[in-house]
Amino acid sequence: MSYKQRTILVSSALPYVNGPMHMGHLVEYLQSDIWVRFQKLRGHKCTYVCASDSHGTPIMLKARELGVTPEQLTEEISAQFIRDFSDFNVEFDNYHTTHSIENEELVVEIYKRLRATGDIYTKTIEQSFDEKEGMFLPDRFVRGTCPRCKSEDQPGDACEICGTTNTPETLINPVSVLSGTTPVRRESEHYFFKLSEYEKRLRQWMNDATLDKHVIAKLDEWFDAGLQDWDISRDAPYFGFRIPDTDDKYFYVWLDAPVGYLASFKNLCDRRDDLNFDDYWKPGSDAEVYHFIGKDIMYFHTLFWPAVLRGAGFRTPTSVYAHGFLTVNGQKMSKSRGTFIKARSYLDNLNPEFLRYYYAAKLGRTIEDIDLNLDDFVARVNADLVGKLINIASRCAGFISKQFDGQLAASLPDPALFAEFADASDIIADHYERREYSKAMRLIMSLADKANRYIDELKPWIMSKDENTVADVQLVCTQGVNMFRSLMIYLSPVLPVVADGARAFLNEGGWRWQDASTPLLSTTLSQFKPLLTRVEPEQVQRLIEQSQESSPVTATKSDDDTISIDDFMKVDLRIARIEKAETVDGADKLLSLTLDVGDSQRTVFAGIKAAYDPASLVGRHVIVVANLAPRKMKFGVSEGMVLAAGPGGSEIFLLSPDDGAKPGMRVK
Ligand code: 2FM
Ligand code: ZN
Repeated sequence: MSYKQRTILVSSALPYVNGPMHMGHLVEYLQSDIWVRFQKLRGHKCTYVCASDSHGTPIMLKARELGVTPEQLTEEISAQFIRDFSDFNVEFDNYHTTHSIENEELVVEIYKRLRATGDIYTKTIEQSFDEKEGMFLPDRFVRGTCPRCKSEDQPGDACEICGTTNTPETLINPVSVLSGTTPVRRESEHYFFKLSEYEKRLRQWMNDATLDKHVIAKLDEWFDAGLQDWDISRDAPYFGFRIPDTDDKYFYVWLDAPVGYLASFKNLCDRRDDLNFDDYWKPGSDAEVYHFIGKDIMYFHTLFWPAVLRGAGFRTPTSVYAHGFLTVNGQKMSKSRGTFIKARSYLDNLNPEFLRYYYAAKLGRTIEDIDLNLDDFVARVNADLVGKLINIASRCAGFISKQFDGQLAASLPDPALFAEFADASDIIADHYERREYSKAMRLIMSLADKANRYIDELKPWIMSKDENTVADVQLVCTQGVNMFRSLMIYLSPVLPVVADGARAFLNEGGWRWQDASTPLLSTTLSQFKPLLTRVEPEQVQRLIEQSQESSPVTATKSDDDTISIDDFMKVDLRIARIEKAETVDGADKLLSLTLDVGDSQRTVFAGIKAAYDPASLVGRHVIVVANLAPRKMKFGVSEGMVLAAGPGGSEIFLLSPDDGAKPGMRVK
């Protein structure tokens, strides 16, 4: 088969610098690192770039909260990321930042080219503005009640409860999360990219690129819905690059983030004689370009990004490879359950090779979520890596070193069996190429079973005690060592450190993929050292405990089921006296309560009509949430909430204080 060296550029999505690296991020970095290592092992010229995604409002605010500049934050977090990557053996050829000179130059150049082709226009739009903070608010920074399901405290983009697409404008009682004030609507001029005019070109790209089925399905859906022009600007204050010829307009982070792929590569090309930027990025380039991403950022990578590249006169990506999210023990990662596991916490407790293998054993080419089940993790790595793989070598190495001076035999006793290992090469390679790692791992482990069966059947430990067979022990163990070696070569993209140890034991320099098909004979082995030790359940337990401890107790996000004491203290619970209780025309379930809360009177609508006769309530003391944002209802405004227990309907019971509690008293 003729061999053609491919020229490949790979990127992983750029991590934001406003939080630590965690197990979810690692799905992608390990997936792409394995793919890149595989391509390199096959002899292709593969370059792997990444960078910190340093711009945008959340990062600007995070820096402010920490009392540092966004530049300092980027530097600090990037240094942590680089350590995490290196310890997980994710080997980028370059790791850069979007807040770089190369990126600014490229973004400005792209913008100017798009402006020259008429793809940029300005339009005045209205947005939420926080008057107290003096800034426009991203949709997620406005929260309020979902107009559809009436869930409170929902973000201004999509309801986390019913999934409705909202805007800050459609929310009921919108509040700025920065200042707690009600945002106003304010006009500002924005810069738009004419994505709507790119449908034909994007359809062409979709047909030419080598996209997975699910990506094509998504694109079809978006084409059917119609492409909207894209707002690429943000107003000051903003951490990003200023738009040329403006004083206070910045490029939106999502414009300069993917350009960061180019910038990181450019930064590398400037240091490497063998890499030429244009060779990769000019239209018609022979190089292949792949972006590995999570399924949540497909829109940016399969619509905006190829359109921007095309419009600005660059080549478009060969493909965009999307993966699913990570769940831990079947659920979203959670700080309270100790399953929000930081990369660093994992490294403090467990061998990174285990995670690399476990993810590989789970990953396919779909956008299905993958689950890290911690019990299964322990069982799987022990059974497969220690029990099957390493066991092959450890059962053979001792005999070779003690009885044969470390010398491998000059031939294999069972070449047909070895041929099965060699013949699997193309199928395993194909699985890697297609990102079907789980299939590759299954096939490799079934070969490991075969190797172990061979050793079980021939029993070198018995042969070595019988003078008629002792001479054959070298042959049998040479066969075993060679089967181990082929599997190790196949696994080396997944287990680079174990592979290094195996190569040292085999006294070999670098490996190429095809070395797995030729046995290693008549050479001397080094002393065998255990290449991996079992993972103990206690190590995982410790990791969970530490993850629980290390989580900030102020977590308020919905992926967590605890609130901090600070959060609880925000709720102003007061004693109230029911002054009036009335039915509400047209409302089946509600009573309108007029409450005395000490310094004022409030009207609260409560769903207790089926349980209480209104007259019986007058004069009764109840507990009310006094600082709940007023809620507009069909029948009027409700200014609080009375506390009650029970499933609802007629089984609802108002909570009342003991005698002596007076209206207006704070509940503690
Ligand atoms: O979603 C994210 O985490 C982004 N920081 C990914 C950016 S990928 C690329 F476009 F830069
Ligand atoms: Zn909703």
